[in-house]
Amino acid sequence: MTSPLLTPYEGPRMKLRNRIAMAPMTRGRADDATGVPHPLTRTYYAQRASAGLIVTEGLWPHVLGKGGPGVPGLVTDAQVAGWREVTETVHAAGGTIFAQLWHVGRMTHPLNLPGGATPLAPSPVRIEGEPIYTGEGDVEHVTPRAMTTAEAEATVADFAAAARNALRAGFDGVEVHGANGYLVQQFLAENTNRRTDRFGGSRAGRLRFALDVVEAVAAEVGAGRVGLRISPHNPENEIAEEDPQGTYRALVDALDPLGLAYLHVIERGAYEALSDLRPRWSGTLIGNFNGPDPTSQEAGEAAVAAGLADVFSFARHFIANPDLPARFATGAPLAAPVRSLIYGGGGEGYVDYPAAPPPQPINTEHPAANAPAYD
Ligand SMILES: Cc1cc2nc3c(=O)[nH]c(=O)nc-3n(C[C@H](O)[C@H](O)[C@H](O)COP(=O)(O)O)c2cc1C
Repeated sequence: MTSPLLTPYEGPRMKLRNRIAMAPMTRGRADDATGVPHPLTRTYYAQRASAGLIVTEGLWPHVLGKGGPGVPGLVTDAQVAGWREVTETVHAAGGTIFAQLWHVGRMTHPLNLPGGATPLAPSPVRIEGEPIYTGEGDVEHVTPRAMTTAEAEATVADFAAAARNALRAGFDGVEVHGANGYLVQQFLAENTNRRTDRFGGSRAGRLRFALDVVEAVAAEVGAGRVGLRISPHNPENEIAEEDPQGTYRALVDALDPLGLAYLHVIERGAYEALSDLRPRWSGTLIGNFNGPDPTSQEAGEAAVAAGLADVFSFARHFIANPDLPARFATGAPLAAPVRSLIYGGGGEGYVDYPAAPPPQPINTEHPAANAPAYD
């Protein structure tokens, strides 16, 4: 039986060769001074172009949204030119590629920012636990500065400008990163949004920034080229959402009429986001599970077969298996990545994971030839 992940997908605004998306993954290999992608980034994504959809690693729409060393941007002409080479290579390989727009808000450090700037966030709520990785190693978080209303509006405009740059760079669309405790989710969550202006103060206020960003980006590039990634109730990066059902139902209800390319839902934690939100979303839904182990083929298949998602995204398995869809099709074993080479560096641990060898034809004339060789 063909895996449901391997069947083509044709939704309201998305047509994909299969239902396997490569989920966004930061790899930290851009030139840290310029934010231009590494020359091998085009090879890395082209090797993975058999995914129905590639969503790039997060790209900053403003340098104050940069989360760590080697994170690329989508602001300058040089960055756009670098990404154009990536999209051309992926398209030549038959792939579809969206750029993820990622502003980290409080999840950065003056050591990661130009001029030692203080990170901006909805409210001055500091991360107390895990230290943050910088060019000078792991350090304690600083207290972020609350954006003024004008700064929040300017940041909305930064997302729209980056989306415009994405089209200049040849991307098929953009995904707004509204997940995993970064800026957009910091506005959505009760514990990180203590504002009293129109970007806070009530549920409608907490939703405002996400809605403004998506609407501004859609006005710039067309709603059919815009996806939004959310991770309801995900406690990552010290987010505490008191009422994920209320928040995300309201968000999805407000967004559904816009006709976006897709909604990308990460399910993690007690709230069953996929089953709760699927019936409220009439467009394409991409599912993702973020558990301690890389999501298995079977888990993605079950979600698609149950109608909880149209497409399923995989991250960690794509690191060492550039031909993941082919391996799902043939049952070829999955390779494990070298953990120390995930972030930063060059081609090693990036573009040197081979595709699986093609399955050997069975020799029916000389069955002994099929026996494994031990010498
Ligand atoms: C190395 C690495 C980098 C990641 N970077 C991003 C990112 O830039 N943006 C994002 O939305 N999620 C990011 N994620 C989360 C993944 O997209 C995904 O949600 C998570 O790994 C669960 O999927 P999996 O079980 O298939 O790995 C990252 C995950 C990993 C392992």
